[in-house]
Amino acid sequence: MAKKNTSPDHVAIIMDGNGRWAQKRGKPRLFGHHAGAKRVREIVEACPTLGVKYLTIFAFSTENWKRTQTEVAGLMRLFRRYIQREARALFEAGVRVRFIGDRVRLEDSLVKMMDDLELLTAGNDAVHLTIAINYGGRDEVARATRRLAYDVAGGKLDPRDVNDETFTRYLDTCYLPDPDLVIRTSGEARISNFLLWQSAYSEYEFIPTLWPDFTAAEFEKVLAKFGDRERRFGAVLT
Ligand code: IPE
Ligand code: IPE
Ligand code: MG
Repeated sequence: MAKKNTSPDHVAIIMDGNGRWAQKRGKPRLFGHHAGAKRVREIVEACPTLGVKYLTIFAFSTENWKRTQTEVAGLMRLFRRYIQREARALFEAGVRVRFIGDRVRLEDSLVKMMDDLELLTAGNDAVHLTIAINYGGRDEVARATRRLAYDVAGGKLDPRDVNDETFTRYLDTCYLPDPDLVIRTSGEARISNFLLWQSAYSEYEFIPTLWPDFTAAEFEKVLAKFGDRERRFGAVLT
């Protein structure tokens, strides 16, 4: 019998399907995004009981700027509203919140709220929630490489010391373990530039449910399935 996994420490979720969820109801896409944002609380709250210490969620990709101005502006407004509404509950639930992605392109008012929430929850440890906004795996690797190059040029890093482990320290996710499990909702079986470096050995679950319909009960089922998988990391298990 293959050895059973325990619950995954780090779960990453590509929260997809908000637009289709709204469309099915004859509503604008933003209606779906609002419904999707409401789902997040239930999933975060389920983490401690399910043994998930790190939860990373994909909220906006570096490619999502290609959407209409109305949708992009609506999403940015939604992020501000989400932080405003959820900050206290997150703090009180012991959630430490951090953001990954390039902040340079985000509005100052949003960046300020992100910084404040990170600071407010910096002492928490029950669940580590990472929210990816203007995040792209390739962009992250490129930005990490740029920082690393500056350190090499400045004499702070010896090129001979550049390896997998030192490189990881330059990524936005430097404080995170690699995801054990990546879940994508909405039935699409692709990773759309999410955590490219970090998911080298992650398990994947592509599930048909649209994100606004994804419940804690379904989350629990997906985690149970993870427990049945055998992870080999390139080795032969005896
Ligand atoms: C995911 O839902 C949320 C974001 C990308 C911001 P979508 O907006 O991609 O929903 P679909 O895929 O069009 O249904
Ligand atoms: C990935 O979903 C990004 C987020 C969930 C934030 P997309 O809907 O943007 O991905 P594609 O376009 O279907 O690959
Ligand atoms: Mg989508």
